Amino acid sequence: MGCDLCNDTGWKASTSDGVRRVVRCDCWREGATARLIEDARIPPRYRACDLDQFVTYPNEKLLAAVRRAKAFSEHYPAGDHAQKGLCLIGPPGIGKTHLAVAVLRRVILTRGAHGLFYDTRDLLRVIRSTYNPLVRTAEMDILRPVMDADLLVLDDMGSEKTSEWVEETMNLIVNTRYNERRHTIFTSNYDDTPDDEDPDCLKARIGFRIHSRLHEMCDFLEFDGADFRHAPPNPTGDDLLTLWKAKPGRRTLPARAKGPIRAQMKQGKELGWSGGKLGT
Ligand SMILES: Nc1ncnc2c1ncn2[C@@H]1O[C@H](COP(=O)(O)OP(=O)(O)OP(=O)(O)O)[C@@H](O)[C@H]1O
Ligand SMILES: [Mg+2]
Ligand SMILES: [Zn+2]
Repeated sequence: MGCDLCNDTGWKASTSDGVRRVVRCDCWREGATARLIEDARIPPRYRACDLDQFVTYPNEKLLAAVRRAKAFSEHYPAGDHAQKGLCLIGPPGIGKTHLAVAVLRRVILTRGAHGLFYDTRDLLRVIRSTYNPLVRTAEMDILRPVMDADLLVLDDMGSEKTSEWVEETMNLIVNTRYNERRHTIFTSNYDDTPDDEDPDCLKARIGFRIHSRLHEMCDFLEFDGADFRHAPPNPTGDDLLTLWKAKPGRRTLPARAKGPIRAQMKQGKELGWSGGKLGT
């Protein structure tokens, strides 16, 4: 389908203050943004995620996370808030990936940023498949865009238990981005408990060096809420609030890890909920 304005050349004539110029056509701009979105590797399920259609309900920490996500995209790439990336932590289904992708899409659409989404486990799998200790070029073909993206979303950090190779690879990525002051949004199911003995805390899952970098690079936003995957179709805020209240066991972090009971109790207390039903 051709463009009547520019005959598909991407350039069109424009007159301003009596001076004729040749400028980029609107179709070229739209095409460029579409290419950026395409290149960001956002999974089909999340391609429509937006900050404005994220359903909220009275849940202080969730609301704070949404506010912070909005502030990040508004101030991107500069400003007080956008100096730091985000680390969204909480149990499954509460919208961490949704929020991360919504921010990613917004900065691509409004700022023309080069954005990239990777599920951490997928990324490691892809790198591993090209890994050759003698020739590191194929590996670097994958790594280069990950290290260079203006904004990177690394989804589900800690889902792959750390090993020497995983740690070295993740360190290279995180450290390069840290040194270059590039923004990264991480998500994780693993609670950032200060308990070093807990094998399911974030630090144990990702390694203490990356953990330390993350704290410097990101604002940590830990929240919980209703598991959207268990909500009725097109739920309202009231539906989600009811679901969240009805399932206090889901408020523990992380649901699939067996964190120490006392950490869960502490969290329950912070939420003002009486910890009778601890779920796991
Ligand atoms: N508050 C919300 N408003 C609208 N859609 C939501 C909300 N929370 C979650 N969703 C939707 O529910 C689905 C699950 O959310 P998402 O994948 O973001 O959860 P998650 O916190 O990343 O879970 P996990 O820890 O399992 O990765 C997605 O399709 C997402 O768009
Ligand atoms: Mg997720
Ligand atoms: Zn055109």
